[in-house]
Amino acid sequence: MKLQNSIILFIVLLISYTKSINPKPRHIPQFVFGRPYGGFLNRPDGSNNEEDISCGSNNISYEEGWITQPLDHFDLNNTISWQQYYHYSFDLYNGSGLVFFMLGGETPLRARFICNTGYHWMVWAKQYGAAVFQIEHRYFGQSRPRVDQSVQNLQWFTPEQILEDYNDFIQQMNVKFFSNITKPRWVMFGGSYPGTLTAWMRTVYPDLTIGGIASSGAIGLTVNQYSYAVNMQKDYGSNDPNCASNIKAAFTQMQTMVYSETGRQVLEILFNLCTPFPSSDKLTPKDIQFFFSNIFGVFQGINQYTGDNGNTATANGLGIPITCQIMNNVSETDLVKRIANVINWSNSFSPGSQNVCMPNSYSDYIWTYKQPEYDTYAEIAAARSWNWMCCSYMGYFQTTDGGHDNDIWGRQDNLANNVTAMIINRNAHCADMYPSSPNDNMELIAARTRIQGLLEGFIQANKL
Ligand SMILES: *[C@@H]1O[C@H](CO)[C@@H](O)[C@H](O)[C@H]1NC(C)=O
Ligand SMILES: *[C@@H]1O[C@H](CO)[C@@H](O)[C@H](O)[C@H]1NC(C)=O
Ligand SMILES: *[C@@H]1O[C@H](CO)[C@@H](O)[C@H](O)[C@H]1NC(C)=O
Ligand SMILES: *[C@@H]1O[C@H](CO)[C@@H](O)[C@H](O)[C@H]1NC(C)=O
Ligand SMILES: *[C@@H]1O[C@H](CO)[C@@H](O)[C@H](O)[C@H]1NC(C)=O
Ligand SMILES: *[C@@H]1O[C@H](CO)[C@@H](O)[C@H](O)[C@H]1NC(C)=O
Ligand SMILES: *[C@@H]1O[C@H](CO)[C@@H](O)[C@H](O)[C@H]1NC(C)=O
Repeated sequence: MKLQNSIILFIVLLISYTKSINPKPRHIPQFVFGRPYGGFLNRPDGSNNEEDISCGSNNISYEEGWITQPLDHFDLNNTISWQQYYHYSFDLYNGSGLVFFMLGGETPLRARFICNTGYHWMVWAKQYGAAVFQIEHRYFGQSRPRVDQSVQNLQWFTPEQILEDYNDFIQQMNVKFFSNITKPRWVMFGGSYPGTLTAWMRTVYPDLTIGGIASSGAIGLTVNQYSYAVNMQKDYGSNDPNCASNIKAAFTQMQTMVYSETGRQVLEILFNLCTPFPSSDKLTPKDIQFFFSNIFGVFQGINQYTGDNGNTATANGLGIPITCQIMNNVSETDLVKRIANVINWSNSFSPGSQNVCMPNSYSDYIWTYKQPEYDTYAEIAAARSWNWMCCSYMGYFQTTDGGHDNDIWGRQDNLANNVTAMIINRNAHCADMYPSSPNDNMELIAARTRIQGLLEGFIQANKL
């Protein structure tokens, strides 16, 4: 396998936040699966607990709940059950019988999505008088079907079980909260992987809900999802062709360097690697792939979230335009140094990440995700769970196998069954879901109007 063809990465949907400041293990890269470990916690005002203040000033209150779910929805002989965590609010509800439901994905449940009325599903809930619910996905956060995540205990982590959890949830909530409504009208929302789940739910249980909004949901999944990086390259190139060619030239140079002992020594210093590359006789392809995937991961994360209004970092410039300024910086003649400058700048958005060495030990990294125990904030467990999902079912490996063309977000297939697909050019992953910003471009504003029109269509077609 050629080196440049074997960089494997994963992504996670929304940039996520943690309730507390999680100490990041030293050997975990800054970006884990294209997302910063624990989220962007740093804020310009110096406070660093984004979750607590992210309800914003237009906040509403919400309640926490737990429902009992069977471990195995398909084996009636298995009587083991577990508690699934959810949030809900009736603050915006006006008796409409409308229920907006945000499906949980591959992170612990985040309160800000339900307490901050700036998120677009909340804007619409307010407008249409809907009750709102959001649920945590099994094997994430506090929703733990088994005491740990040993391989034995992950056997109930299947797409079928997950869809059945959400089906069960809607039915239980209908009994608990909407017994005074003849037919409660549920609309699902999901971004990224939960967007995929939204589409699957509409397919498998079409009568349970009146519609679904799947934002940036990956469809047509394949094991080798090289189209992801193909689109990344296009994004950098459409910002500035010179930027894309500088990135390419720098990576090509690093590929040459990594094949020689002296080249590797230069890279160790330039990137301030925590662990030197093993000596030539012990060096394995994994050591080299891990190094490249860590660097690639930064460019991936920057691309994926450019210009969204989802967190302090991206709202304050972490994105392609400044990355390209650094990559086009003629005062720095060494292209590889420019890459290091991008990483340094990107680190400056996360507290405690600047001037610390860059993790480079694949074996330490794997060791961490091999641990079956839940860690305190379930951040590592979340990454283990997502790995499980990708390796067992979804594939979705974001390799650099390019050369072909095959959009993942911007694809409009399967338009039967009343599915409307749209491409939102010049916008980040799931950008339509976040609060509005004065920087939103025309395409985003128009897309939100169109999505609302579809939502309105679901509601009109399903009168109480
Ligand atoms: C909710 O909004 C009010 C202002 O309207 C603010 O004082 C309060 O801190 C906000 N609460 C949260 C949890 O963000
Ligand atoms: C449940 O148990 C019964 C009786 O032992 C057995 O006949 C049946 O096959 C079991 N069902 C499953 C799904 O294992
Ligand atoms: C709730 O709000 C919506 C949107 O304003 C309105 O159409 C509806 O009549 C209201 N009340 C009920 C009971 O549906
Ligand atoms: C139905 O019950 C819910 C709470 O269970 C309440 O908030 C709502 O106002 C009731 N709606 C009607 C139309 O009575
Ligand atoms: C450009 O490169 C110079 C020389 O290395 C450096 O001092 C400066 O900070 C760089 N500027 C940017 C935007 O990267
Ligand atoms: C990163 O920036 C710091 C200053 O914030 C500087 O000391 C360090 O040398 C930089 N590292 C690289 C690789 O440019
Ligand atoms: C498709 O959805 C629209 C509402 O968005 C509805 O009016 C129409 O009846 C639906 N068509 C089918 C075939 O379900």
